[in-house]
Amino acid sequence: MSEPVVLALETSCDETAAAVVASGTRVVASVVSSQVDLHARYGGVVPEIAGRAHLERLLPVLSETLRAADVSRDGSGGCALHLEAVAATTGPGLVGSLLVGVAAAKSLAMAWGVPFVAVNHLEGHLYAALLEDPAIEFPVIVLLVSGGHTLLIDMAGPGHYEVLGQTLDDAAGEAFDKVARYLGLGYPGGPALEAAARGGDPTALELPRAMLNEGFAFSFSGLKTAVVRHVERHPETDTADLAASFQEAVVDVLVTKALAAASARGARGICLAGGVAANTHLREALAAACTERGLHPFVPTRSMCTDNAAMIAAAGHFRLRRDGASGLDTGADPNLAFPARA
Ligand code: KG4
Ligand code: ZN
Repeated sequence: MSEPVVLALETSCDETAAAVVASGTRVVASVVSSQVDLHARYGGVVPEIAGRAHLERLLPVLSETLRAADVSRDGSGGCALHLEAVAATTGPGLVGSLLVGVAAAKSLAMAWGVPFVAVNHLEGHLYAALLEDPAIEFPVIVLLVSGGHTLLIDMAGPGHYEVLGQTLDDAAGEAFDKVARYLGLGYPGGPALEAAARGGDPTALELPRAMLNEGFAFSFSGLKTAVVRHVERHPETDTADLAASFQEAVVDVLVTKALAAASARGARGICLAGGVAANTHLREALAAACTERGLHPFVPTRSMCTDNAAMIAAAGHFRLRRDGASGLDTGADPNLAFPARA
C-alpha cells in the first residue's frame, strides 16, 4: 500500500517554498528559495517585490520539489507515495504574497482532484520539532518566536493546543530587527545582532526584563527603548556589549517563561519554533535549562525553524484529518488569527 503525502506551498512572506511530507511527519522533499538578497538593500521586506518574486519562483520551486519526490496522484504506477491533498498557507502574512501560493495550491487541487487544505502559518511553525523528532512525548510547551509573533503554547498533541500567552507589543524577532537597525547592524536584523553579540559582555548593561515572573504574556518594547536610552546617554558603549546584553535579556525572558509554563502545565518538554529559534544563545540556554529540570528540549535545525513548506504540509496532514478539506472559496487572510484553543 502506498503512503499518503501532502504537497504544501508557503509564500506568506519572503521565502518561496514547496514540500512533500509523508504521513505528517516524514519530509520527502523540501525546497526553499529565500528572497533575502532582494530586500536587503531596502532594510526590510518590500511587499510588491515579494509578491512578484513569488510569482517568478513558485513554478521552478514546485517543479524541483516534485522531481525530488516520486509521487503518484492516484496510487497507481507502483509509486510508494500518493498525493492526498494540496495545502497552502492562507495567513497571516503579506496579502500579495499569500495569494500566489493560495491560488496555485487551489488550482493544483482542482486539476488533480484532491482536497485543498488551508493552513495557518503559525500552526505550521508548531510542527517543526515533530518533523525532526516524530517520537515527541506530549504534552509539550511550544515557544513560538518569529518576526511577527511571540507565543507560548501548550500542545497536547498534533492539532490540539492552547495559547497560554503572547506579546503585548513587539514580537521577539521584531525587537531583534529594530535594535539591529538602530545599531546599524544591517538586515536581516536577528542574525546580524547575534553576530555582533559574539565577544560582547552580556552583563555590560542592566536591561529590563518586563513581567519576568508574572504570567505568560511578553513585552519587548521597553527593552528596545532602554537600549536606545543607554546609547543616548553613553554613546561610547561598545556595540558588541550592547548586542550581547540585549540578546541576554530577550533570551532570559523567553527561557524563564517557557520553563514556568512547562512547570504549570506538567509538560514533558519544550519545543522551539519560529525564526528567532535559529538564535544560538536561545537554543543553548533553553536546552541547558531543560536538561537541568528533567525536561526534554526539542530544538529543530535552523532551516526547519525559519519559514519552509514542510511544516505547512505537516500541519495540513493533521488539519485534513481533524477538519476535512477547506473550500475552494477560502481566500488569503493577511490577519488570520491563531485560535486561542484548538
Ligand atoms: O519565522 P520567521 O522566519 O518569519 C516570520 O514568520 O516572521 O522569523 C523571522 C524573524 C526575524 O525577525 C529575524 O530577525 C528573526 O526571525 N531571526 C533571528 C535569528 N534568525 C532569524 N533572531 C535572532 N537570532 C537569529 N539568529
Ligand atoms: Zn514564520
